[in-house]
Amino acid sequence: MKRIFSGVQPTGNLHLGNYLGAIRNFVRLQNDYECIFCVVDMHAITVWQDPKQLVLNTREVAASYLAAGVDPKRHIIFNQSQVSAHAELGWIFNCVSRIGWLNRMTQFKDKAGKNKEKVSTGLYVYPNLMAADILAYKATHVPVGEDQKQHLELTRDIALKFNNDFKVDLFPVPEPLIMGAATRVMSLRDGSKKMSKSDPSDYSRITMMDDADTVAKKIRKATSDPHLIPGIEVLGENGSLPDEIRKERPEAFNLLSIYAALQDQELKDVLGEFEGKGFAEFKQSLTDLAVEKLGPMGAEMKRLMDDQSYVDGILKEGAGRAAALAEPVMREVYDAVGFLRS
Ligand code: TYM
Repeated sequence: MKRIFSGVQPTGNLHLGNYLGAIRNFVRLQNDYECIFCVVDMHAITVWQDPKQLVLNTREVAASYLAAGVDPKRHIIFNQSQVSAHAELGWIFNCVSRIGWLNRMTQFKDKAGKNKEKVSTGLYVYPNLMAADILAYKATHVPVGEDQKQHLELTRDIALKFNNDFKVDLFPVPEPLIMGAATRVMSLRDGSKKMSKSDPSDYSRITMMDDADTVAKKIRKATSDPHLIPGIEVLGENGSLPDEIRKERPEAFNLLSIYAALQDQELKDVLGEFEGKGFAEFKQSLTDLAVEKLGPMGAEMKRLMDDQSYVDGILKEGAGRAAALAEPVMREVYDAVGFLRS
């Protein structure tokens, strides 16, 4: 059985990276897999969240799944805190995972920065909870953006160590699915940083709910460069962009990759179309495309976010279905670990 699990944190400012790197792929995969899409509110509180805003942001992520086209009748959409298996298995994985493994997590190092003593312990064990999310359902495939690759490797290590420690064949070793032309969308202001929900500058990201004027303004102000768009000869043999070329013009190739992903083309097609043109002209085409693709979805998200009872109903119903899937897995886990159930 092929089962997908993936999640997005409800920390506001859902952006083009979340859409192109993850949410759009959820929609594509739903015809071939049984899917569980989670709003990971327990992960969100590893850094401070205003409680009222967390509720709204949880609905925002659910609305983004629905507006992008995930079918809640065929698949499960729910928020993590409504299914207790996540916390329960997360604790067990805290006892399976090793401190040395967590010390290698680059996302923790980036988020904690120089302030390692002051961040929450939750932020540190965050990847163990992520492993619990996936493995509580014995999910086999996990669609994510490139930045989650290391966390998924840890999930695989935890699955293997659990099976090995307890001499069971309980957990599958899940595969990441990192798909499309924009698996790592960069900031519009600085091509060396990834586009993120927490960047203080609104101009660094296009959000899923930006209106046409805002999208146009952000793309106009996006950093590019004075050179013309190159032809396909810059690409490697398999059509991919060599790292050294991307590093020379990170902002230019970020915008070109965003165009390719939105248009569902490969980078070579975009270079073929725009070779020899300047960024002023290209940015106009990118704006038109972004508005065409994001506009209707953003409007639908806004409509859904006003329809609280509908969205909350989907999450509740999804949580019931998710809990029913996790329950037998947790029973197996408790038996394996030796927890007495009376
Ligand atoms: P989060 O909320 O940071 O991001 C949600 C999804 O969006 C992808 N993403 C990007 N893709 C391309 N370019 C970017 N600039 C970009 N920024 C974000 C992320 O890779 C992710 O797929 N730890 C996860 C949430 C999580 C999870 C899980 C995911 C918790 N449990 C279990 C999969 C399975 C996170 O922080 O995603």
